[in-house]
Amino acid sequence: MLVRLMRSEDLEQVRNVGQKAWSDVASTELGRKVKYPFRPRKIIKGYLWKEPKGCLVVEDAGEVIASAHCHVWGKVGWFGPFEVLPEMQDKGVGKALLGGCEDYLVRSGCVHFGLETMPYMVKNVHFYLRAGYRPQEFTCIMKKDLVRVQEPTMGVERIEEAKLADILPEIGALSRSYNSHLDLSREVEMAVREDLGALFVSRSDQKLAGFAVLHAFHPIEESDHSAVRLLLVDPDLADPSDHFDRLIRSVENHSYRLGRRRIFARFVVSPRLYEDMLKRQYVLEGSNMRMIKGPGYCEREGYIMAAWAG
Ligand SMILES: CC(C)(COP(=O)(O)OP(=O)(O)OC[C@H]1O[C@@H](n2cnc3c(N)ncnc32)[C@H](O)[C@@H]1OP(=O)(O)O)[C@@H](O)C(=O)NCCC(=O)NCCS
Repeated sequence: MLVRLMRSEDLEQVRNVGQKAWSDVASTELGRKVKYPFRPRKIIKGYLWKEPKGCLVVEDAGEVIASAHCHVWGKVGWFGPFEVLPEMQDKGVGKALLGGCEDYLVRSGCVHFGLETMPYMVKNVHFYLRAGYRPQEFTCIMKKDLVRVQEPTMGVERIEEAKLADILPEIGALSRSYNSHLDLSREVEMAVREDLGALFVSRSDQKLAGFAVLHAFHPIEESDHSAVRLLLVDPDLADPSDHFDRLIRSVENHSYRLGRRRIFARFVVSPRLYEDMLKRQYVLEGSNMRMIKGPGYCEREGYIMAAWAG
């Protein structure tokens, strides 16, 4: 068994591992055979671009039997998707892969390590508790059906690739003003360069007030959904809810124009943000648990949505 870097030639085997692992989970949960969809190639290619040394596979007898993707957001590191072929589980493969992910995150300068998992999956909870992770945040997954384009949003600009270099330092600075260990600029760069969706920014007196990244990479014939991958509003603004409203409306409108009829948002639960999303006709679809190793890391304040889900 060998833990090694993922290569672009592994792509189909990596998709196969994910499809088999989640089909197995869903079949066990529902008590009947379920075929889970394959993960789109585009997002795996994006992760390989963003984190070439943080995409790992486990190989056994020349076959890929497990895979994982790490994400370095400044000093905050997380991993996911993280999957082992069902027939190869419970043999220590997951543990070896987890070791590889942690080594990479440490080498990359992360001090907080984390993941999101389903709290009702006893095996997963045991697997991460044994490795030193502790439950720290409750995250919710909310969904809204998109039925029409809303009135145009003023003061929000879509940023295309040509303007990306100018905006990334501002995104890094805004992330750090939220938490000095957080830097979302590389994740934003991936979304635009790898054409995974769209980036919107909102300004206040010329200064970056907030940004949102929409992911819409599933082929439309396979799924009509999109997802808010990131959203952050400057916590020091006098009117953060105004910028939040503009940004969320922009991603919803853009989704609708792309033919997406459902949008998902995933974030650490804070009472205010949850209330705001209910007012915007989002409904709760599910909830997860963030588990963290190392010093605590919290996203309970302000307007932030940062999905730790691959
Ligand atoms: C979670 C997952 C990655 C673990 O991989 P794995 O190769 O089975 O992991 P390991 O063999 O290293 O460790 C499994 C541990 O779970 C324990 N375990 C197995 N079944 C269990 C159960 N039903 N309840 C509690 N613990 C269980 C094993 O005993 C072992 O613990 P131990 O080392 O203390 O004995 C794998 O099950 C998987 O791919 N699941 C589907 C996708 C998924 O949920 N990914 C994680 C998303 S956060």
